[in-house]
Amino acid sequence: MDKLNALYQGKAKTAWETSDPDRVIMEFRNDTSAFDGGKTASLERKGLINSAVDSFVMQHLEAAGVPTHFERRIDANHVLVKRLQMLPVECVVRNRASGSLCRRLGVEEGAELNPPVFELFLKDDALHDPMITQSHCVTFGWASAEQLAEMEALTHQVNDVLKPLFLDAGMILVDYKLEFGLFNGQMVLGDEFSPDGCRLWDAQTHRKLDKDVFRQDLGDLVESYQEVAHRLGVELP
Ligand code: C5P
Repeated sequence: MDKLNALYQGKAKTAWETSDPDRVIMEFRNDTSAFDGGKTASLERKGLINSAVDSFVMQHLEAAGVPTHFERRIDANHVLVKRLQMLPVECVVRNRASGSLCRRLGVEEGAELNPPVFELFLKDDALHDPMITQSHCVTFGWASAEQLAEMEALTHQVNDVLKPLFLDAGMILVDYKLEFGLFNGQMVLGDEFSPDGCRLWDAQTHRKLDKDVFRQDLGDLVESYQEVAHRLGVELP
């Protein structure tokens, strides 16, 4: 299937129209950004590693009964997905305190969160993705109460599947962000699951293996992502 017009260019991915109105090609680029685009870089191999990890995780979720947009990997940097009607809401689950939760609430980094924390953010770069509540979503029409309930249930289901997957590979799934959309009226997991959108720590040492390596200048981001892929058993070209 060929790429036609670019539908959407995000900070790290581009979505391309295809000849099938219900299918989109997602391109994982090497572009990397943090702090609302305040820090950027182009890192050789990042796109192909994220594409490989995303494909692996999405197939694992699909097999576990989570509806995802994933159809198939096309080549190193491209994945064919269902074209969803995306909801402008980001769902974050936190198993351990880190990042904005620590800044907002003064919680110590690494604190275990039981039950896990579930948060909603508005997907809006101009407003810096503010934290929102269910009430905002319903009032402003970003998602209905029923849709939010479904998104929250699916986000927790993803946690039940991915926590043990990463732990078996020697990593703690600290937190992650998911985005959902509708396909023929069904709530489906979209966007991506890669080390760009989650936090992963070595289970023993708590060494960071995700985008915090880039955000906090902790080392070579591509080496860390490669280690995540290697630990999961994901083959890279
Ligand atoms: O920054 P914060 O601690 O709120 O991020 C929580 C999780 O969501 C992290 O894994 C982060 O990488 C991810 N996230 C993301 N895209 C955003 C905001 C957060 O992937 N726009």
